[in-house]
Amino acid sequence: MEIKTAEFSISSPMVSMCPNDTKPEYAFIGRSNVGKSSLINMLARNKKLAKTSATPGKTLLINHFIINKEWYLVDLPGYGFAKRSKKEVARLDQMIRGYILGRDQLVNVFVLIDIRLEPQAIDLEFINWLGLSGIPFAMVFTKCDKLSAAKVVANRKAYEAKMLETWEEMPPTFLTSSEKREGREELLDYIDQINQSLKNG
Ligand code: GTP
Ligand code: MG
Repeated sequence: MEIKTAEFSISSPMVSMCPNDTKPEYAFIGRSNVGKSSLINMLARNKKLAKTSATPGKTLLINHFIINKEWYLVDLPGYGFAKRSKKEVARLDQMIRGYILGRDQLVNVFVLIDIRLEPQAIDLEFINWLGLSGIPFAMVFTKCDKLSAAKVVANRKAYEAKMLETWEEMPPTFLTSSEKREGREELLDYIDQINQSLKNG
């Protein structure tokens, strides 16, 4: 799929204030600093579309970006940032979960995982919550440029083994690097397939 246009639409503090239309949308979630905003920019080929930062906690609202005037990429705040007050953690958690559970147009959530880390409880818990809530999702490993190809394969395998302790099968999984633009075609093809099936269904 070709991305012809990618434009910022709106930032919303809660699901009830998100765009009032029925275009399908794809949201990106994961720990703070995992690379959600960078991945959206890599897909859109526009480094200035979503705001990124080397320090965690940059994205604090639900951000809609309209692609080809037909569908949305949605950038969400990250979870698991230690330097947040309890109140702020609760507020963001409610924003994220309220959006995911309440947004009918949300057709797929991409859960981003840093390929360098061992499976983290906070990610596994979030993935289990998505499963229990019946939300379709795929897994996206980020920052693959930071490891050797062999280590990427090994860490992915270790993650799968961990997931398969509780899951019957793996969700669709992608290996990406926003730095090297890896995984772009695969992710866009996946999104395109869903968009086409929605049109035909
Ligand atoms: P929050 O909005 O704070 O939750 O973070 P985020 O998940 O949106 O992360 P963001 O895209 O802002 O990236 C965080 C840092 O990781 C930035 O310094 C990025 O340059 C870096 N980064 C993101 N993706 C990659 C990648 O694929 N490779 C490398 N080497 N660095 C990356
Ligand atoms: Mg961000």
